[in-house]
Amino acid sequence: MISILKFAVLMVFIASYSFADDYVLNRKRFPPNFLFGAATSAYQVEGAWNEDGKSVSTWDNTTHADPDSIADGSNGDVACDSYHKYKEDVAILKETGVNHYRFSLAWTRILPTGFPDQINQAGVTYYKNLLRELRANGIEPFVTIYHWDMPLTLQERNGLLNESFIDWFADYAAVCFDLFGDDVKIWTTFNEPKGTCLFVVPNNKTEGSLEYICAHNVLRAHAKAYRIYEKRFKATQDGRVGIVLDSYSFVPGSDSAENITATETTYQFELGWFANPVFNGDYPEIMKSRIGARSRAEGRKSSRLPEFTEAEKVALNGSADFFALNTYSTSLVVAIEDPPISYPPSRDQDMGVTNYQPDEWENSTMNGMKVAPWGIRPLLNWINDHYNQPDIIITENGTPDNTGTLQDVKRVSLIQSYLSYIRDTMEQDGVNVIGYTVWSIMDNFEWTQGYSQKFGLYNVDFSSPNRTRTPKLSAQYYKNVCQTRCLIVDDYGCID
Ligand code: BGC
Repeated sequence: MISILKFAVLMVFIASYSFADDYVLNRKRFPPNFLFGAATSAYQVEGAWNEDGKSVSTWDNTTHADPDSIADGSNGDVACDSYHKYKEDVAILKETGVNHYRFSLAWTRILPTGFPDQINQAGVTYYKNLLRELRANGIEPFVTIYHWDMPLTLQERNGLLNESFIDWFADYAAVCFDLFGDDVKIWTTFNEPKGTCLFVVPNNKTEGSLEYICAHNVLRAHAKAYRIYEKRFKATQDGRVGIVLDSYSFVPGSDSAENITATETTYQFELGWFANPVFNGDYPEIMKSRIGARSRAEGRKSSRLPEFTEAEKVALNGSADFFALNTYSTSLVVAIEDPPISYPPSRDQDMGVTNYQPDEWENSTMNGMKVAPWGIRPLLNWINDHYNQPDIIITENGTPDNTGTLQDVKRVSLIQSYLSYIRDTMEQDGVNVIGYTVWSIMDNFEWTQGYSQKFGLYNVDFSSPNRTRTPKLSAQYYKNVCQTRCLIVDDYGCID
């Protein structure tokens, strides 16, 4: 731990860091009911990949069969060992002072066959213990039902591309509501379905069709699970259900009319693809018209974008009790000439615009994650304007480094500035942001980047069997934020 004095000096330095010409750190205290949290997901932290009756997931399978596909050849076999160390996890969450902990359930730990024919009691006990420990420490569980770790049994049946996935997922979700719903009041069905569907096919050969089929199945599975909760569990459990969607902030590359239109198109393809069905009952008009027209020009009889039935639209419309948003960066959008019809078609061509991050923006250690926190304000406003002013909760935000340094000054300044722009948006634009969740409480298995990229407030020593968790500067800063609900740590403090 660094000394209080050094912490205060660093904070003054960080507060003077600027992200945009007009950046002024917001000194207004966050409202008492604003939720501060931290997140993880099952495969990224649990380990115990084959213990106590858990079956194999797609990530177990890929990391074992093809370690070269992971930057450092690693896997999540042990990860942070949270399966055995969940009490330590809750202790560091408690130490940080968060209101909520967002984590996900491993389908393979609860239903080893993928189906509800067999419920694995040891897996259920693990999550019950975690929930009990969280509640005993006054931390609200925020549970994601599916965060990318598909049971291999289901992948072998074509996974997300099989229309039966809708029932497989709905059955699994119903089991989760039934088993854990007394302790869980905030649920999300899927984490980032866009990424899930864009990378669902080997070599990313989605060809402008399969990703739309995947999304169509995910959306209908989500709606089915939402309606099951509404009909069977809501009255007794009184929880809320949503879906975690991700988006960059998109900003016109210039104020030309073409770039402004291109930005709207980008948002609709990137975020509206999932958000519009969930909040407004159907795909965005611009997707229906562009994909329809291009499909016809390719000589097809019907659009590559599937259509919802009237009953599906009704089930989808309003199937989220809040807007859960993951966001990490900003991009500038520019209009381009409509791409010619070519084979294979692609979603990028369907979208027909392009976006980029200028060279002069500050890099992070991961591609596409340049530091531009000011973008969150237009993004939140876009959501507010398009989906009838929903309650918005940021379910992931953070930044990577490749060292795990305890002096993570850049992470502190990123969290501080994102929160500052969020506070501006609440105060000046009247957008209903109800919470913020940092990714992540601790360094963990970062998918294809293995352990080479670290997002944690806590460093995890992956070379030690103890997986020792050590607080970074950002843990100390975030603790201060949680305690004071104020972004500034200096003599002047916050304005109430
Ligand atoms: C995912 C997390 C991931 C994070 C950082 C998000 O897209 O939900 O699982 O670790 O980004 O890359």
